[in-house]
Amino acid sequence: MASKCDVRPKSLKRITTQAQAKKYIAAQIKEIQEQVGDGKVLLALSGGVDSSVCAALIAKAIGDQLTCVHVNHGLLRKGEPEMVCKVFTKQFKTNLVYVDATNKFLKALKGVEEPEKKRKIIGSIFIDVFAKEAKKIKGVGFLGQGTIYPDILESKGGIKAHHNVGGLPKDMQKFQLVEPVKFLYKDEVRVVGKALGLPENMVNRQPFPGPGLGVRCVGAITRDRLEAVRESDAILRAEFAKAGLEGKVWQYFTVVPDIKSTGIRNGKRTWEWPVIIRAINSVDATTATPVKLDWQLMQTITKKITKNVKGVNRVLWDITPKPTGTIEWE
Ligand code: XMP
Repeated sequence: MASKCDVRPKSLKRITTQAQAKKYIAAQIKEIQEQVGDGKVLLALSGGVDSSVCAALIAKAIGDQLTCVHVNHGLLRKGEPEMVCKVFTKQFKTNLVYVDATNKFLKALKGVEEPEKKRKIIGSIFIDVFAKEAKKIKGVGFLGQGTIYPDILESKGGIKAHHNVGGLPKDMQKFQLVEPVKFLYKDEVRVVGKALGLPENMVNRQPFPGPGLGVRCVGAITRDRLEAVRESDAILRAEFAKAGLEGKVWQYFTVVPDIKSTGIRNGKRTWEWPVIIRAINSVDATTATPVKLDWQLMQTITKKITKNVKGVNRVLWDITPKPTGTIEWE
């Protein structure tokens, strides 16, 4: 059964305008200050919309009583960790602990092919790294969390487990939660993010899985193939932005499976990977429709990927709807 405090208050009207968002921000700042007092808050900042908006709100409310921990698992998109660090240290002047745990993650993932096993490893190492950093910060009494209303509804409906303190080690479960966006829907979180001054590409970021590029480097992850995923994804995103598709296509990314095919480059035979392009529209990710892309755009992307991405000689386009394909390949 849902507890009463997990139900969106009737007094909270839908937030669609910047004026409404500013009012919400002012109220939350007051509420956070009252809840936290002179206590310390810790927050795992992934750079996703929810955790970023949550961090920005808490930072506005209590300044340096907040410490954010940004764990780079080595599976983030190109430029992502740099952007998160820049926005939160320079713009929001937040205490930010940046942990590059790439080696730890890739070592644990070495040779692991099974997607769910990969997810489990990534999830559990993430908790270990975060908990280790948390221990170094003395006197923390609160945990900031970017829970949003659909998370609560879905966990109530048994659709998915709410990524709440349940996943944290025992000694971290004593922290009181600070969840300033827990009654907001995703579109409202974006409106609030904009009003907080977060960058456009952070606020309107397309969905990105927690295990990151790890589930797009199909099969056992290797550093070179992971780089092929990261570089091809960066090219795809840049070309979509140039073509004015940013914010218009729900989710787009590249996948590199662990297969090779024959090709030719400078008159010599190559034996390299293909890059698969996935671009879909969806409302809530339960179903998805492939986006019909412009032929010229596809050719430009193909040319740039095969010219610039090491180890790749072919580009394919996945036009499968969900169902039967899922959005991600793993
Ligand atoms: P699928 O592949 O199931 O994906 O059609 C539906 C949506 O969920 C995202 N996704 C994930 N997000 N952890 C996440 O946080 C995951 O393990 C995960 N797997 C898939 C996917 O990107 C899509 O938006």
